[in-house]
Amino acid sequence: MLSEKLSKALNDQVNFEFYSSYTYLAMAGYCESIDLSGFANFFRVQAKEELDHAMKIYDYVYQKNGSVILEKIEKPKADYDGIIDVFEKGYEHEQLVTKKIYELTDIAYEEREHSTISLLQWFIDEQVEEENSFNSLVKRVRRIEDNPAGLYLMDDELAARVYTSDASK
Ligand SMILES: [Fe+2]
Ligand SMILES: [Fe+2]
Repeated sequence: MLSEKLSKALNDQVNFEFYSSYTYLAMAGYCESIDLSGFANFFRVQAKEELDHAMKIYDYVYQKNGSVILEKIEKPKADYDGIIDVFEKGYEHEQLVTKKIYELTDIAYEEREHSTISLLQWFIDEQVEEENSFNSLVKRVRRIEDNPAGLYLMDDELAARVYTSDASK
């Protein structure tokens, strides 16, 4: 059984993962609007992964005899100042997610709620990958800033990203 405090924090994280999905879907839309459909594909896949994250916590809460209360999802930012801005905002977003996961883990440790700590360990590891992936993409798009050929090569590469559900592992 989860405490009220931990339930509330897990609920907030479910909402925030949905918001992350919304954020990446908005970034996908922005990329479509500037005719970078490969970049858009990257963010569409990213949006699906964030839904998996939300559902991973959702399922866990019910396994622990709790309930998820779905709240209103905040409107995501839709306007960006070019492709570099999109990835910089994505990287900032993932750093914020990491902070939230750490805060959640702190509560689980305070309460010695070991199964929640175990769940959150998956998210902690996932965030290392997420931050690293966005950080390297920020660096790559900065490097090709004034090189349309490089941008379209990268667009082709990102068009090949395929969604796989790794949150169920
Ligand atoms: Fe996530
Ligand atoms: Fe993420």
